[in-house]
Amino acid sequence: MKKIVIAIDGFSSTGKSTIAKQLAKQLNYIYVDTGAMYRAVTYFALENECIGDSFFKEDDLINKLSEITITFKFNEKAGFAEVYLNGKNIESDIRTLKVSKYVSPVATLSEVRRKLVEQQQLMGKDKGIVMDGRDIGTVVFPDAELKIFMTASAETRAKRRYKELLDRGHNLSYEDVLENVTTRDHIDSTREDSPLVKANDAIEIDNSNLTIESQLNRLIQLADDIISK
Ligand code: DC
Repeated sequence: MKKIVIAIDGFSSTGKSTIAKQLAKQLNYIYVDTGAMYRAVTYFALENECIGDSFFKEDDLINKLSEITITFKFNEKAGFAEVYLNGKNIESDIRTLKVSKYVSPVATLSEVRRKLVEQQQLMGKDKGIVMDGRDIGTVVFPDAELKIFMTASAETRAKRRYKELLDRGHNLSYEDVLENVTTRDHIDSTREDSPLVKANDAIEIDNSNLTIESQLNRLIQLADDIISK
């Protein structure tokens, strides 16, 4: 059967990865969370004191990029591929508000983007992949057969992310999460290299009032229409 590339882009906390994971499972495709890759580099930058509250030693991070190897390994129990930095599972370490706070500035660096985009393109060269991020339909796979652009109001997204973080045992305020979501949206959409924009041929889905099930059904339908053509 014909295999395609499905690019899912959109603002932070729009539920891209939840849908992308389930869509990939349904189609028996590989799922790649590219946000996890930018988060992995940010985690490395924090651990190596390249970034902190009052400093960002961009050149130090750029010089150390060759020391970073990011891999994914499928976790049967979790049902998705977890991210590893130099062989260490960092799947939960990268989901903290601290990493979320610094990831957008790190993702503005062209050297970081070049390294990660190259790896992402390799992962999708045989197609049969669902990839989510900010620049998948515009930069990583401009020829993707199906492109989705997810949106939802900032408040809806912050509420979802707040609940998710509380459920994971993090102690934080809704206001902090909302501030993080809006700041990241701003940095991600205004950066010079590969800003977050909707590709001309992407289908926009505002999921503020949609259930996961209805979004998934819609995406399966869209993908099936292309695959069966
Ligand atoms: O999807 P996420 O919230 O885990 O992504 C974290 C950050 O990584 C996001 O704020 C911007 C950056 N990112 C990016 O610049 N390009 C991508 N393809 C994916 C994520």
